[in-house]
Amino acid sequence: MAHFTKATSVKDWFNQRLAVEKVEKVMMSEYWIPKNINFLWAMGMVLVITFAMLLVSGIFLLMYYVPTVDGAFDSVNYTIMREVDFGWLWRHVHGVAASVVFLIIYIHMFTGIYYGSYKKGREMIWISGMLLFVAFSAEAFSGYMLPWGQMSYWAGMVITNLFSGGSLHADGLVEWIRGDYVPAQAFLGRFFMLHVLLIPLAIIGLIALHFGALRIPHVNNQDGEEIDFDVESEKYLAGKKAESKVMRFANDFMAKDLMVVGIFLVFFFYLVFYNYGFAMDPVNFDPADGLKTPAHIYPEWYFLWSYEILRPFNIDLGLVLFAFAQVIFVLLPFLDRSPNSVPANRRGLFGIWFWVMIVNLIVLTAMGKLPPEGIFSTIGLVSAILFVVQWLALPFITKFEKKV
Ligand code: HEM
Repeated sequence: MAHFTKATSVKDWFNQRLAVEKVEKVMMSEYWIPKNINFLWAMGMVLVITFAMLLVSGIFLLMYYVPTVDGAFDSVNYTIMREVDFGWLWRHVHGVAASVVFLIIYIHMFTGIYYGSYKKGREMIWISGMLLFVAFSAEAFSGYMLPWGQMSYWAGMVITNLFSGGSLHADGLVEWIRGDYVPAQAFLGRFFMLHVLLIPLAIIGLIALHFGALRIPHVNNQDGEEIDFDVESEKYLAGKKAESKVMRFANDFMAKDLMVVGIFLVFFFYLVFYNYGFAMDPVNFDPADGLKTPAHIYPEWYFLWSYEILRPFNIDLGLVLFAFAQVIFVLLPFLDRSPNSVPANRRGLFGIWFWVMIVNLIVLTAMGKLPPEGIFSTIGLVSAILFVVQWLALPFITKFEKKV
């Protein structure tokens, strides 16, 4: 049994029982952050804030949402949007945050790729990050089913059809996932449960893992410098703050983080109040109708690049390449064979690889939105092939990279 003494303050009372001072040191005041990092390192905090907004707005929406095929559409489009005070605001916050979170995730991911932040002990940060990406994708897809509009229904139909495995015709599996022959009540019920309970819980656990994975290797920096955090933090604690290459997370770095978060929130609420339309597909304002297929079925903008990798090929090859596109980013720390964890512009061929990958993903995204006809389908095909070739070439390009 530990030795307890009469507490001298409320803080001391908690401290004796929960070691709050130690936790505060480990997580905040002695969590060391390099000084040479730019605003892109604030994207993690922007993601935390956006996720918090999704949770809070989701809780408000949940109070009026009805998870039945007869009630869902009206509960969203009439009850929440017209009858409940400020229901429209929570819906717009939720819809805009669901879209913007992917923009920030992509910026955060490609910052990591550009600066080589997935290497040398940072592999688990990367892997937990990619698991977060998968969890967010599942969360966005399941949420898209809930208003039970035309796009919810038909996107649900198309995506669950992918599990038939093309010419394997695993139709039993598709029905098992749907709980019916077509998307119906069982389908809506289980996607509702996934969206409001299981996936958010998984996301919270994964964020904890992601943060835990950051604690030992610390964050990377924009110069690819190998910082000795023990030596530099001692300098800081000895009062040589200007000389030290690191600063405290709280309150030093947090102040910088919060400034970027503030700028982000201005942009975010501008979208919520004046430009929310981009996050709401007009087709989804028609109620789900299993007898009326929309002329053109496409996913939200953040899935378009992987959709375009599936589309130009026959169903079997398309499915294989689609699966390839889903898992290949996870393997990045093992496919990149170079020891250099410096910015891509100092890594020769890898720098070119990086920028070609970005431009190609933008092209794939644009082609995914357009109908697969004429020149668009040719561009889509070439881009999809280029994506696969780039990943296959990565181990060779990086193996022969000179040590910087
Ligand atoms: C909502 C999801 C996520 C949250 C809340 C989150 C949060 C954070 C935070 C707070 C940091 C430290 C500061 C920073 O570098 O921004 C960080 C670092 C990092 N994250 Fe994430 N992240 C998320 C998703 C992802 C994804 C999808 C990836 C991509 C695989 C990823 C990869 C990384 C990497 C590689 C670092 C280390 C950066 C460095 O060492 O310089 N994260 N994340």
